[in-house]
Amino acid sequence: MRLLHPEVRDLVPEDLLDLYDLPGPHLRAGFVASVDGVVAVDGRSASLGGPADKAVFRALRAVSDAVIVGAGTVHAEDYGPVQYGEGARTWRQAHGRAGQPPVVIVSRRGQLDPDAKVLQGPVILAVPEGVATPQGVEVIRTTDPLMLRRSLHDRGLSRLLCEGGPSLLTSLLAAGVVDELCLTTSPSLVGAGPRLLSGAAAARLALRSLVVDDDDDDPGVLLARWSVIRSDS
Ligand SMILES: NC(=O)c1ccc[n+]([C@@H]2O[C@H](COP(=O)([O-])OP(=O)(O)OC[C@H]3O[C@@H](n4cnc5c(N)ncnc54)[C@H](OP(=O)(O)O)[C@@H]3O)[C@@H](O)[C@H]2O)c1
Repeated sequence: MRLLHPEVRDLVPEDLLDLYDLPGPHLRAGFVASVDGVVAVDGRSASLGGPADKAVFRALRAVSDAVIVGAGTVHAEDYGPVQYGEGARTWRQAHGRAGQPPVVIVSRRGQLDPDAKVLQGPVILAVPEGVATPQGVEVIRTTDPLMLRRSLHDRGLSRLLCEGGPSLLTSLLAAGVVDELCLTTSPSLVGAGPRLLSGAAAARLALRSLVVDDDDDDPGVLLARWSVIRSDS
C-alpha cells in the first residue's frame, strides 16, 4: 500500500487509522465503486471490495462515533452491528473513543425485519414523525439530513460515517451535509448496476489523500479521500 498524495510513502493497513482520522464534527461517506461508478453486483458490494477496501472500511468505522445507513442497504447487505478487531479496539481506547457505535438506520417507512442481525447491537432508527416503529429501538423523529445530523451531535455522536446506499448518499449530498467522500475505486468495469448517486446531487470535490494498493491478487485499487467543497466557502 502506497500513499501517493499529499506525500509519497509506503503504508501498512494499520496506518489507515491515523490517515482517516478526521478531527472535529463531520459527516463523511464511505463507498466502493467500479471505475464506471457501479456500487453493487448482483445486489451487493462485496465483489467490488478486496483487502484494501476492507482495510479502509474497518479504519473508517474505527475512527467514527456512529454509522448511518439507509434501510435498503441494511436489507441488501444483511447488516450486522459494528464490530472491531484488536487493532481498532486498541486505537479507539488510545484515542478516547467510546464503546460500540450505533448503526443509525434511515427509513421513511420504519419497517425493520425483527430478525435483522443489526438489532443484535445498538441501533437508532431515523424516521419521519407519525411513522410506527418497532418496540425497543431508539428512534429519532426526523429524516431531514440537517436535523438528523444535529440530533446525532446532541447525543454526542459527532464523527459520522454514512455507508450508503446511493439513495441516502444522494439526499445527504443534496442537503449539503456531507464533508467528505471516501471512495475506493475497484480496478474493474461492471456496466449495469446501481451507481454511486441515484439522482441529482452536484458537488465540487478536492483530493485530500490518495492511496494505491498493489496487492498481487488485486493490483491498482485506489483509496481516495475527497473533501466536499461547500458552495458557500
Ligand atoms: N458499494 C458500496 O459502497 C455500497 C454501499 C451501500 C450500498 N450499496 C448497494 O446499494 C444498493 C442499495 O441502494 P439503495 O439506494 O436502495 O440504498 P439505501 O439508500 O440504503 O436504501 C434506500 C432506502 O433507505 C431509506 N432511505 C434512503 N434515503 C432516505 C432518505 N433521504 N430519507 C428517508 N429514508 C431514506 C428508504 O427506506 P424505506 O424504504 O424503509 O423507507 C429507502 O427505500 C444495494 O445493492 C447495496 O449493495 C453499495
